[in-house]
Amino acid sequence: MALAEIIELPKIVDPRGNLTVVTEGIEVPFNFSRAYWIYDVPGGESRGGHAHKVCQEFIVALSGSFTLRLEDGHGNVESFHLNHPYQGLIIKNHIWRTLEDFSSGSVALVLASDVFDEEDYIRDHEEFIKIVNP
Ligand code: TYD
Repeated sequence: MALAEIIELPKIVDPRGNLTVVTEGIEVPFNFSRAYWIYDVPGGESRGGHAHKVCQEFIVALSGSFTLRLEDGHGNVESFHLNHPYQGLIIKNHIWRTLEDFSSGSVALVLASDVFDEEDYIRDHEEFIKIVNP
């Protein structure tokens, strides 16, 4: 089974400039409590390197591109290259994610199902493997 799925968002093409929209409950099955974005990533850097206990996230490459490397802790690893502002990826809880290979000037938008809570993070990979293989 795929670890995540690329979601195609509506693209309203317009000679004045295109527009894309995402609505909770339509393209994304959870409510958004929080939005944050990652930008000014130096060449060669990676972000993420954790999983969440409960929080789900929807990630869009608003500008530029990057690769999301996902791992389920059962030996399955999958990479998704995001490079269109009208596509996103839903990352469920208990999925270890790394964001890497950011192109210059790229911006990653993240819509999260829950407010920020450090207690919801699993930042230790060994602990992650134990949690998903009880
Ligand atoms: P983190 O989620 O580890 O970043 P990423 O997964 O994108 O690499 O967060 C980095 C730091 O920012 C960490 O100290 C927590 C803080 N932070 C907040 O305070 N609020 C937030 O909503 C987020 C996402 C992070």
